[in-house]
Amino acid sequence: MKIDIVTLFPEMFSGVLNHSIIKRAIEKGAVEVRLVNFRDYSLDPHQKVDDTPYGGGNGMVLTCQPIFDCVDAIRTEDSQVVLLTPDGVPYRSEKAYELSKVKHLILICGHYEGFDERIRTICDQEISIGDYVLTGGEIPAMVLVDSITRLLPGVIAEDSHLNDSFNDRLLDYPTYTKPSVYRGMKVPDVLLSGDHKKIEQYRQEMRYNRTVERRPDLIEK
Ligand code: ADE
Repeated sequence: MKIDIVTLFPEMFSGVLNHSIIKRAIEKGAVEVRLVNFRDYSLDPHQKVDDTPYGGGNGMVLTCQPIFDCVDAIRTEDSQVVLLTPDGVPYRSEKAYELSKVKHLILICGHYEGFDERIRTICDQEISIGDYVLTGGEIPAMVLVDSITRLLPGVIAEDSHLNDSFNDRLLDYPTYTKPSVYRGMKVPDVLLSGDHKKIEQYRQEMRYNRTVERRPDLIEK
């Protein structure tokens, strides 16, 4: 899979792309991530990418030209163009699975006070990572890259995301490691029993109980 991140701040991504599982996925070739600075596509003599809003108001607005030309240059028949914006469709696990099947993903990061409304016309979808406003689309783009990359074949053990929180609309079960007692807190006996059927039953029960307790909205859906 190829991911192009269209951003004014490519340096922000070095932490996420150069560590841990994402770094390994890139090294293995499971995903290829390109950082594309749309300022490079600005036709303005000073490489300006923003301007004041028509009708007045605070702040600067990203102009159409650099982003349109940038997307025209990198988009192919296989591309899905995603705009990160707080008024997009709320991001969920199902969308991460759906996007993990795309051959070429283009993520557009807005910044400043906003972007010219006409930029929406070159996007196939608009995604929000939550009901809060961030300073730009870079952190949301990182969230998508991370959540999608871990689903790609060969990145983590094939079955290890089957029990992820939110699959089957249930949260994950609790896990423990050694020692079996820590500061008086005991690991549940069933996990030490070696009875795999019982363990599986216990885990399903815990997923259900935890979801009822913490996220009843997931079950109601
Ligand atoms: N840009 C700013 N805030 C955002 C959010 N919550 N989701 C996606 N893009 C954003």
